[in-house]
Formats: sequence, structure tokens, C-alpha cells
Amino acid sequence: MFVLRASLMRAAAPACRALTASAPKLTARPLGLATPRPCPARYMATQAQQTTVTNSPSSYREDEIIFNPMVEGQEQIEQVAQASMNSGKPEDSFARLNYHPESEAGVNEQIAHEYTMSYAYHAMSSYFSRDNVALPGLASFFRAASLEERSHAQMLMNFQATRGGRVRLAALAAPEMDYNHLEKGDALHAMELALALEKLNFQMLFELHKTAEKHEDSNMSDFLEDMLSEQAEGVKEVSDYVAHLRRVGKGLGVVLFDEKIAQRASEVASTAVTALGA
Ligand SMILES: [Fe+2]
Ligand SMILES: [Fe+2]
Repeated sequence: MFVLRASLMRAAAPACRALTASAPKLTARPLGLATPRPCPARYMATQAQQTTVTNSPSSYREDEIIFNPMVEGQEQIEQVAQASMNSGKPEDSFARLNYHPESEAGVNEQIAHEYTMSYAYHAMSSYFSRDNVALPGLASFFRAASLEERSHAQMLMNFQATRGGRVRLAALAAPEMDYNHLEKGDALHAMELALALEKLNFQMLFELHKTAEKHEDSNMSDFLEDMLSEQAEGVKEVSDYVAHLRRVGKGLGVVLFDEKIAQRASEVASTAVTALGA
């Protein structure tokens, strides 16, 4: 469109100059007289411009004010002016906007879930570090998994702070400390419990996402979708470990599995440490 207008203007410029030079000079025009005809090139360019504006779905007049923050932002201006410093009340948040109390409570519940998982994995790590268990790879893996869940809690706390919610930490249930199992052995038993926890967490994130959708909170939905993708990958990873451990039995196979999972533990730990910003 710009190219067309520019070329039209360029082509007609000499003709316009000639017309202007030969035309009688108008000093003052009495009211009521017809306006002199515009230069054809300018007329065509103006028409093209007007056609573009008229065809646009968001057309507006050039002299029209389309946004007046001092009028349209009255609600926000009053809310900011009335909010108090150092208050725990949601209405006193400076940043809060379209954040439903049900969403805020759901995020706090999810923080508790992530901490509870972190606590359980820490207990598993402690078990596999025992002198009469001695599976250092699994101890490292569960310690890294614990750190990872803690980083998820931190992500949710960051989200809560960003949206002007208030973090409320809850009491945590004490986890099991012994993971031996006569038929399965300890490694498979702990990994099956880990899989159950990961699947449960996936389900809880789904429920929280439904809450975000219910309140048309696209920012919260987007945030949770990233968490859900990571959680789906976590469920698959632990599922694979359950499958491996079901194949290898309770003896030497577990020792070999332990060596293999030690490498993965360091990757999980470094990602979690980065996410924690530690
Ligand atoms: Fe998690
Ligand atoms: Fe996890």
C-alpha cells in the first residue's frame, strides 16, 4: 500500500507542480464558494488511505480519543490508593487483579502437595542411605527428586506473589521411613510409591487448572500448563523406572540399576538448584 501511494505521488508530482504554477493565486476565498479541486494525485492517495482505514475492523476517527486512563482506570486508581502497606488481607495487595480467592486457595493447597512430596522423597533418600541398604544412586535420585518438588513449591510461591495472592503454608504429614517389602524389595516398592505420588500430583494440577479455567484466568492456566507438561514427563520417567525394576528382581539387578540412576540424579539436582535460584 505504501509503495502504491509513494509511486502515485512521485508520478503525479511534476503535473501537480505545473498545475499549481499555472493556477491563479487564491489569496482570500469568500465563504460559500466551491473549494478548488485538489491535485488528482493527492486525491487518489487520500482515497486509498481512506479506503484502508474504512476497511479496518478497528477503525476510528483521527480526532477520537480511544483510551483515557484517568476515566477508564478509575477502579484501579481507587484500589491502589486504598491498599495498605504490610497487610495480609488480599484486598490490600498492590498487584492483585482478577485473581479469584478460590484460585489463590488452590495454589496454596498445591504448594502443600509439592512440599509433602518433597518430604516423602527426602524420607526415601534417607532410607537408601542406610548402612544396611546402601544404594547411593537411589539415595541421590530421591534427594534430587525432593529438591525438585521443593522447586515446584517455590514456583507456585513465586506465582502467588506475582498475582498478589498470599502464601499460606500448611502442616505436613510425616512420611513413612521404611521401604522394605518382602515380595517386591525396597527399590521397586519405593519407586512404585513415587509413581503413585507423581500421578496423584498430576491429577491435582489438573484440578487446579479446572479452577483457573472456571474463573477465566488465562495467566494461571498458562502457568499450570507448563507445570502439567513437566509433570507428565515426570510420570513417564518414573513409570520407566518401575518397569526396569520389575525386570531386574531384588538382587544384583538393583545394584546395576542403582549405578545407572546415579547419573540421572545429578541432572535432576542441577535443574532443581537452578530453578530454586540457589
Ligand atoms: Fe512437583
Ligand atoms: Fe515430581
